[in-house]
Formats: sequence, structure tokens, C-alpha cells
Amino acid sequence: MRHDTTTAGATTGMGATGTGATDAARRKPRARRQPASTPAAEPHRDLLRYRDEFPILQRKTYLNSCSLGPLSRRSMDALARFQELWNEHGAQAWYRLWLGEVAAVRAKVAALIGAQPHEIAIAPNVSSALSEITSALDLGDRRKVVLAEMDFPTLAYQWLARRRTGVEVEFVPSEDHITLPAERFNAHVDDRTGIVATSRVFYTSGYIQDIRAVAETAHRHGALLIVDDYQGTGQIPLDVKALDIDFLVTGTLKWLMGGPGLAFIYVREDLIPRLAPTVTGWFGVRDQFQFRTTEFAFRDDAARLEAGTPAVAAIFAASAALDIVAEVGVARIRERTRFLADDLIRRALARGWEVRSPLDGAIRGSIVMLAFDRPNELVHDLTERGIIVDYRPGMVRVSPNFYNTIEENEAVVAALDELLRQRAG
Ligand SMILES: Cc1ncc(COP(=O)(O)O)c(C=O)c1O
Repeated sequence: MRHDTTTAGATTGMGATGTGATDAARRKPRARRQPASTPAAEPHRDLLRYRDEFPILQRKTYLNSCSLGPLSRRSMDALARFQELWNEHGAQAWYRLWLGEVAAVRAKVAALIGAQPHEIAIAPNVSSALSEITSALDLGDRRKVVLAEMDFPTLAYQWLARRRTGVEVEFVPSEDHITLPAERFNAHVDDRTGIVATSRVFYTSGYIQDIRAVAETAHRHGALLIVDDYQGTGQIPLDVKALDIDFLVTGTLKWLMGGPGLAFIYVREDLIPRLAPTVTGWFGVRDQFQFRTTEFAFRDDAARLEAGTPAVAAIFAASAALDIVAEVGVARIRERTRFLADDLIRRALARGWEVRSPLDGAIRGSIVMLAFDRPNELVHDLTERGIIVDYRPGMVRVSPNFYNTIEENEAVVAALDELLRQRAG
């Protein structure tokens, strides 16, 4: 199965290889980085009605989903409902409604990623989610952990912080700092490797890794695969079973548009009994409301990785946002974001700007990195003009989501044009 399940690329006219292309063909580097033809008028018009759902879009040109998704009216209503339940029921809200919402959000995320609800645990953020997993695994003699140099730092920190316990950390480098062909893992993963931990979508380039191939390498050597999918979930279709992922972490801040305070852990069903987290608490044990202080037994499901009282306000906000993602559909979101990212790249290349993301939309999410000096100044000046994007060292980062438009791409590019002209002149 292809790791990118979208079939929409053929409509974009840029880097699209159609639905029949093999992974190898799709991954062949392009000989020249040149602009493709201009797109037709705005497609996917039915999605534009969602613009009313997000008040920020009426105030700003907002292309920063890979940093923070926008707040929706549905999440605002859900937060108001949460407050009303708190006022109406006090502590009774826990038993009557709030714990039900926790269960509902678990089920929604499970459906989104192709898992079962009992394979999902919640956590306050992705770093804590990773720490839970790390604390729960006994590596035995397999003390080597392999990561990609381009992964988000927090993934590596889990293991770097445990080096004094004998954990050895090895990084797979990227030659171009944009892509990482899956076969590069072969030189690093061996029979001493306990864990391969990496992301599906790189936060600094938008490159989509071939996770199925990485899983195959890890499993061939008896290692487990942990995937950080914070930049993928909600943007690019995901089936954890088809990709043969052992653990996956993701959260609601970015593409799921649910705000801060909630992250998720997927654990493959048969691995749950092996997990004995030392980061734990009363939410992780069997029959928690029996309050047995002198006895301890983990729950039977993935929630054994949970510790204490969840942030219910965050769960209400996120649960409503997950409904929007499910309603639009991740395949459709992917189709639209791929189109918008292609359009943005075409405009950048036409101006001779350096694009530090894959040009081929089949292996790139909706994260477009543009190389400029002093990107922080550009982002500051764009903000002054009501355009919200982001920067990373040496690059402006633009990430359109399904509700954005070609006109908004034009606005970002025109404003950058003007700022660069001012710099030059
Ligand atoms: C890929 C990826 N992983 C992890 C994180 C950090 O997540 P958290 O702050 O929830 O620990 C980010 C945040 O930007 C990210 O992009």
C-alpha cells in the first residue's frame, strides 16, 4: 500500500504522477526545480463554506496550521457547554457527562486513524505522551534507539535524557535536509535496536516518510516503531494497521484544530500487556474508583498509559473540532491542502525563491518552507499586515489548510514580494 493514500494529485498539475505510479517512480528526484503551469480557478468550492466556521479567517490571512490550527465556532460552543455543565452540575458533571466526553474523544480519534478505542490513551501533550511510552518499555538488551536527524527535538529528547541508563541513540541523517528515503534506515537499524522512532511528516520540510517501509525495516530486526504524527494526523489519511505502526503519538493543536492541552497515544492491541509505565497514576489502574491504596494493577487497555485528571475543557474543544475533520474527511482535506501547497510552491518558484520542501506533492504535506535571510523579520512584518505564518531557522514556513484559498496564497506571496523589494532597495 502506498503511504500516501490520496488520489487527488493528478488534478494539481504539479509533481503529480497520477494514481498508477509506483512509490519508486513517485520518489524519483525531479531533474529541475521549475514552475508548472498556472492552476485553473479555485476548485473544491464546497469547502469554502467552512470559512464562516473560523472567526480568525474573517480577521487575518491565516496560513499557520502546522503551528496552531484555528479556533472554530463549534469548539467555542463546546467550551461554553463545558462551562454550563460545570455551573449546573458541579462535581456531578464528572460522572454524568465529562467522563463520557473523554470516552467519545477516544473513539473519534480511533476512527480517524484506523484504530480501536481501547488502543487509545490520552495525554496533556505529545512530549508527555512520548515520556509515558518511554517509561513503559523494557528494552532489555536492545538498548539502541534509531531516530531521524530531522525529527522534532522532543522525540529525541526522550531517549537522550535516558542515556545514563545505557540507552544508545543513533540518528539517520538527511543529505538534503528535506527528504529521507526509507532505505537510509537500513544502515542504522540492527539486531541490537529496540526502538525506531520517527515522524510521518517532517516539521521542517513537510516531507512524508514512507512509514510502511520504515516499519518493515524495524520489524525485520525485531524493533518496535514509534511514530510522531503531530504534523500528519488530520492532514494526510492514516491507517495505523495498514502502516504496521506499533505506537503513534499525535495531538490536537495543529491540523486537528482542537487547541492546546490534549494529545493521544495509539498502542497496538497486543503490545498493551507488555507496558508497565513508571510515569503513572490513579487513572491508569483497574477499578480506580475502588481507591485501593495498597494494591496496584494496570488497566487492561491503552489507558494504562494515563496518569491523572484530564483537562476536560481541552477535550470539549477538541472533540468538536474532530467532528469538523471527520465531516470534511481527511482524504478531502489532503486533496485540498495538496492543491494549495502546490499552488504556493508554483508562485514561489516563479519568483526564483528557494523552496526547501519537496516539489512533488505526493511526498509532501501542506508545509512549504521558503529560504530567506532573517525570516523572523519577514514574519514580523507579515504579521503587521495581518498575515500569519511562521518561521524556522533560515526559512519562512507557510502551511495552508482546507479552508484557505488561492487568493490567500497570492496575498502572502505579494506581501513577501513587497518586503523583499524593500530590503533590496
Ligand atoms: C512533529 C512534532 N512533534 C512534537 C511537537 C511538540 O508537541 P508538544 O508540545 O505537544 O509536546 C511538535 C510541536 O511543534 C511537532 O511539530
